[in-house]
Amino acid sequence: MGDLRLGVNIDHVATLRQARYASMPDSKNAEPDIIAAAAICERAGASGIVAHLRSDRRHMQDRDVDRLRQNIMTKLNLEMGNTPEIVDIALKIVPDEVCLVPEKREEVTTEGGLDVVAQRKELEPTIKRLQTAGVRVSLFIDPTLEQVDAAHELAVEMVELHTGKLANAFSEKIEKQELENLQAAAKAASEFKLQVNAGHGINYTNIGLIHKIPNLTELNIGHSIISRAMLVGLEDAVKQMLGAMEDYKG
Ligand code: PXP
Repeated sequence: MGDLRLGVNIDHVATLRQARYASMPDSKNAEPDIIAAAAICERAGASGIVAHLRSDRRHMQDRDVDRLRQNIMTKLNLEMGNTPEIVDIALKIVPDEVCLVPEKREEVTTEGGLDVVAQRKELEPTIKRLQTAGVRVSLFIDPTLEQVDAAHELAVEMVELHTGKLANAFSEKIEKQELENLQAAAKAASEFKLQVNAGHGINYTNIGLIHKIPNLTELNIGHSIISRAMLVGLEDAVKQMLGAMEDYKG
């Protein structure tokens, strides 16, 4: 088992820019610059950059993902809902990886994993089109054996296990149960030879719990790193997270 890798989700760098510049996207003064942010994350040791192009364009814009595609040196993981508009954009941009997520307009952030079992028919053609274009596909799922089986049947390269419930567990009982679910799902996915990633709600405090999940290849972390960057700078925030991920035993 190699080192646990870190994909930094920089959506909230764009959130900050949109807070001021949404109505003047071409302003030369628009900051912070997401390309500069991506470069700093890469220099600090991130193995990839994650961006979620939401249908409502609340943070990342089309030209952001286009510019990221052209400028980043590691890999671009485009998070997206399975909608015709966004699938077309992904097929034009051809990111290294796509992570398919459920998307609800009114949510603050992604809530829950994809229901791969129920959405198999809609997911299958999208997965095939992306893979044919050379994109590796990940499905963001809740940690259940049913969802892992369904992901395996769809022949994707990766799953990303939803760690939100673990991250936000408000009782020891829920934490224990969710950890067991994640452990079992990670093991099952790895037995299917799926790459196992994890993400959502991971921060500098709960990262210790993530070490208890076996078979992980990559963590995708956004909000906590970008928040810490406000206080210590982006490079240090990424390095501190990488430090907290060291010694992962797999
Ligand atoms: N992985 C997925 C699939 C997500 O939807 C998100 C949130 O955009 C993340 C990881 C990152 O979550 P957080 O910002 O809580 O670290």
